[in-house]
Amino acid sequence: PVAIPRENVLDNTLTLLREGYHYIPGRRRHFKSDIFQTRLLGQKVICIGGKEAAEVFYDEDKFTRIGAIPNRMKESLFGKNGVHVLEGNAHSHRKTMFMSLMTSERLSELTALTEKQWEVAIADWQQKRRVILFPEAEKIMCRIACEWAGVPLWANELSQRTRDLSAMIDAFGAIGPRHWQGRIARNRSERWIRRIIAQVRSGELKPREETALYTFAWHRDLQDRLLDLQTAAVELLNIVRPIVAVGRFVTFGALAINDFPETKEKLRVGDDDYIRMFVQEVRRYYPFGPFLGAKVRSNFKWTGHQFKKGTLVLLDIYGTNHDPDLWDKPDEFRPERFDEWEGSPFDFIPQGGGYDMGHRCPGEWITIDIMKVSLAFLANRIDYNVPKQNLDYSMVRMPSIPKSRFIMRDVAISS
Ligand code: HEM
Repeated sequence: PVAIPRENVLDNTLTLLREGYHYIPGRRRHFKSDIFQTRLLGQKVICIGGKEAAEVFYDEDKFTRIGAIPNRMKESLFGKNGVHVLEGNAHSHRKTMFMSLMTSERLSELTALTEKQWEVAIADWQQKRRVILFPEAEKIMCRIACEWAGVPLWANELSQRTRDLSAMIDAFGAIGPRHWQGRIARNRSERWIRRIIAQVRSGELKPREETALYTFAWHRDLQDRLLDLQTAAVELLNIVRPIVAVGRFVTFGALAINDFPETKEKLRVGDDDYIRMFVQEVRRYYPFGPFLGAKVRSNFKWTGHQFKKGTLVLLDIYGTNHDPDLWDKPDEFRPERFDEWEGSPFDFIPQGGGYDMGHRCPGEWITIDIMKVSLAFLANRIDYNVPKQNLDYSMVRMPSIPKSRFIMRDVAISS
């Protein structure tokens, strides 16, 4: 086998934390190779990136997710025993439960809900001189998520629930206090959702049958048993939490409208095709998920390199979305590039790659629909000023967000 380019270091965890989203793509450039070896968290790790890399990473005969997610991420972001770490028939069965929610009726309902919640928000924003978009967008997303999933949400708990769902997301690349806030938030959120599922099972609460709450409360596993309360709560949070995460893409979308004013003109024409391309470009261009991990299931060779059973492999998500072999001038924001994009499941992977019944994100349609409505709203429905502020976003902090969280002044309905 051909030797894999390697970093001769004892451990590179701190370098990874110092370089963030640029860590893997930077090394790929340095080694002029889509594969290199390093050491992270005390173990040998192989990093791969690009379209062929994504294709092999999603080959389930070669990779397993078991043992690939560090405990600290389960404690904050994902929860334990959820769909992310299932395999084989158990995974297919659970994944089918998620996919059953993504019907065209339920997606239309989501679009209508999203429109309604922005209208509610604007009524309030008009009374204020200053609005900070990111936390407001997260609250809007929290309302949408709970209503769509059938989860009751009282007005007086909106702020705390949103903060908790946000903190779980914010914890994923963190060590120290941000990680601990994520853990506290997860514990509190799991308690909340366990109680709600218990109320459904006792008949106290009667959600509509097509909602995630109903579906997950009554889902039966392959042994025909209900999910235990804890697992059902983890999975319901796997719907509600990532919808709140869409607030990050919405904030980056507002930044794009601000930084590339020609896009605002085009969005204002109201052409559905342009909105779709704009949303895709926001998901490609801005940093969110940096990479994904999986373990080698059994020995195999790829591009002449040996992969040994049990080795942790990271797939470069950010770098694949910015790969100069795949994207013309990848560091330019240009929605029109999606006019020519051929729709490969392996080159545009902000929410993972491969096919629905693998581990690819089941929430991609939801994400796109919510973003379309939200960004069309920001571009067309309202006028606002963007005062001087620090809109830089870090390429080191994971997850990233503009420093000022996007402050808007004098928001008014568009004339
Ligand atoms: C999986 C990103 C929105 C539910 C994933 C994965 C990524 C991702 C990178 C991992 C894919 C893999 O392991 O191969 C995102 C981003 C989102 C988003 C950036 C937008 C902010 C959503 C939404 C939902 C959702 C709205 C709600 C339905 C899930 C679930 C999985 C997943 C349940 C696990 C799938 C599995 O392991 O089979 N997402 N996602 N995500 N996502 Fe999303």
